[in-house]
Amino acid sequence: MKFKALTAVAALLAAPLAYAGGPDDDTLVVNEEVEMATKVAAPAHMSDTGIDTIMSGWHFRTDETQSLQMDDFENPSMIFVDQAVDYFETVDGTEGKSCASCHESVEEFAGLSATMPKMIDGKLTTMEDLLNSHRAEAMGAEPWKWSSAEMQALVALIGLQSRGMPMNVAIDGDAAPYWEQGKEMYYTRYGQLELSCANCHEENYGNFIRADHLSQGQINGFPTYRLKQAKLISRHNRFRGCIRDTRGETFAEGSDEFRALELYVASRGNGLSVETPAVRQ
Ligand code: HEC
Ligand code: HEC
Repeated sequence: MKFKALTAVAALLAAPLAYAGGPDDDTLVVNEEVEMATKVAAPAHMSDTGIDTIMSGWHFRTDETQSLQMDDFENPSMIFVDQAVDYFETVDGTEGKSCASCHESVEEFAGLSATMPKMIDGKLTTMEDLLNSHRAEAMGAEPWKWSSAEMQALVALIGLQSRGMPMNVAIDGDAAPYWEQGKEMYYTRYGQLELSCANCHEENYGNFIRADHLSQGQINGFPTYRLKQAKLISRHNRFRGCIRDTRGETFAEGSDEFRALELYVASRGNGLSVETPAVRQ
């Protein structure tokens, strides 16, 4: 059954598409206050991709799903973000400290998420890495699992402090080799279906695959609340799901491969507003 559906996907992608939708022309304003840049000129490094405008995944969702992201009282992510405020203040580990022991408020992290992942001490570092290294080194606490509720809630809370700011990850200097690695992955065909990220998110965005309206696969709204899973989803979890859908072997969340892919995918969104925490189907 599942195999049949996936064969159909391959057929759908190989054949001219039956129906094309395309992004809508709505405007994303959150809380009637923060207007988001959801369609902007593609960054220079994408000049050979055929994409001249990069677009938030929000434009590809139904009106009902879109509206949930327009009001924080409706946005189901906010329950988890509220919990993260508690985690921030909870003492854990051998040092008897909480995040709040050293950081007065999460607001001091405004702007940080727009630049992540980035090189820190010669290592490509994601927000999850930063939080776990602080837990280990500053608190003497056990690391959180990548996609644990605590981890993704705190990644979302810190991301929220950058909401509305333009994504701006660095791809030059010592980040360049990781960016190249991520780019190569983006164009690698995975799985029995032999589909790359680009086959779906570069060549077919705006088209439907099964009942799903394909976006450009941007990560400017992550962690994202997925209605289908009823929880916050990490970037790496999304990558895993997409590779699994090609019937491919996938990489682990928190693997170096996914760090590099995250940098590359983030860079394809440079200029879009951070929308964290977004809401998706
Ligand atoms: C013992 C004190 C201490 C504790 C506890 C601590 N931090 Fe930090 N944190 C620091 C210091 C000092 C820095 C700045 C230097 C650095 O980056 O290491 C920092 C930097 C950071 C940064 C990077 C800021 C930037 O702009 O680069 C983040 C994010 C962060 N901390 C989050 C947390 C979170 C979340 C927790 C709880 C899980 C936590 N920290 C616990 C001391 C602490
Ligand atoms: C078989 C087609 C297909 C392939 C191949 C594929 N994806 Fe996806 N992806 C989807 C579909 C369908 C969705 C859900 C609708 C949407 O947002 O595009 C999705 C969603 C996403 C999203 C969430 C976007 C948002 O706004 O919430 C990201 C990020 C993403 N994909 C990244 C990737 C990456 C990176 C790769 C390569 C490793 C990849 N995808 C490969 C089909 C695919």
